[in-house]
Amino acid sequence: MSQKFAIFGNPVAHSKSPQMQNAGLKHINFDGNYDKHHLEDGSIIKDVFLASNYKGANITVPHKEFAYANADEIRGIAQKIEAVNTYINENGKVIAYNTDAPGFLKAIESFGTVKNVLLLGAGGTAKAISLALQEKGISVTVLNRSEGKLDFFKNNGIKCSTWDSFEPSNFDLVVNSTSAGLKDEYLPCPKELLEPVLKNASFAFDCVYGKITPFLALAKENDCKIKDGEDMLLFQGVLAFEYFTNTKADENLVEAMRKGLKGE
Ligand SMILES: NC(=O)c1ccc[n+]([C@@H]2O[C@H](COP(=O)([O-])OP(=O)(O)OC[C@H]3O[C@@H](n4cnc5c(N)ncnc54)[C@H](OP(=O)(O)O)[C@@H]3O)[C@@H](O)[C@H]2O)c1
Repeated sequence: MSQKFAIFGNPVAHSKSPQMQNAGLKHINFDGNYDKHHLEDGSIIKDVFLASNYKGANITVPHKEFAYANADEIRGIAQKIEAVNTYINENGKVIAYNTDAPGFLKAIESFGTVKNVLLLGAGGTAKAISLALQEKGISVTVLNRSEGKLDFFKNNGIKCSTWDSFEPSNFDLVVNSTSAGLKDEYLPCPKELLEPVLKNASFAFDCVYGKITPFLALAKENDCKIKDGEDMLLFQGVLAFEYFTNTKADENLVEAMRKGLKGE
């Protein structure tokens, strides 16, 4: 019987996950289809998931915390992140994972060895990235515009500060996980603070994908090797796909999904 998959979000119309996941399903001749599922009320996500007979789903903004709270079982690093982006139906039980965290680690592999990361932003994405880096033994410092979201990092033993209290040191990778640059032309933190850090860094990564943000442009000016968020989106999708289909992704599958993502 054909299996159903979906991405839950609000809004969800813009999501590229269906084109990426369906390209993967087609590549391995899997009898299934992946759709968009607009969901207003995240608190009922588990019931909707089960009632819709989905085998698996992804969850995007703003439902990742609701999805975490609703799941029957949380596996892996998601237990610490307290947000999930992947649901699997295992014999009627809803199993939840966070593939954003390992997806980010896969995405920065192309930089080579990274030891010391400055992470700009303290939202949901920063939580996943910081814990993924911490688990890998990579030093991470979170820098955010405001104080409000820093408790999570303090409670997890992650160095963090606001712009006002930031004490610069040497970082080899700087990551933008703020939404600055997504729909505007802002830098994620003041230039006088960011530029000296980028001058000493080797790599810069922006979670925003498909454009050279002001952050990446400044990093390039300061001789950093730069990368946008496309690979992060791709690899979180590939890891979810492996759970959905119970298969191990090879290079050809990854490239088929990348083409799907890019609409090629
Ligand atoms: N490539 C991928 O696969 C992928 C995956 C997930 C997310 N993303 C991207 O990552 C970004 C963050 O997503 P999220 O879910 O973590 O968002 P979020 O939870 O809403 O957090 C946003 C963060 O950005 C900061 N911020 C917003 N506007 C800013 C500005 N103009 N200057 C400085 N800081 C600003 C906020 O600071 P305050 O705390 O001070 O408000 C907060 O720390 C988005 O652009 C999203 O599209 C990409």
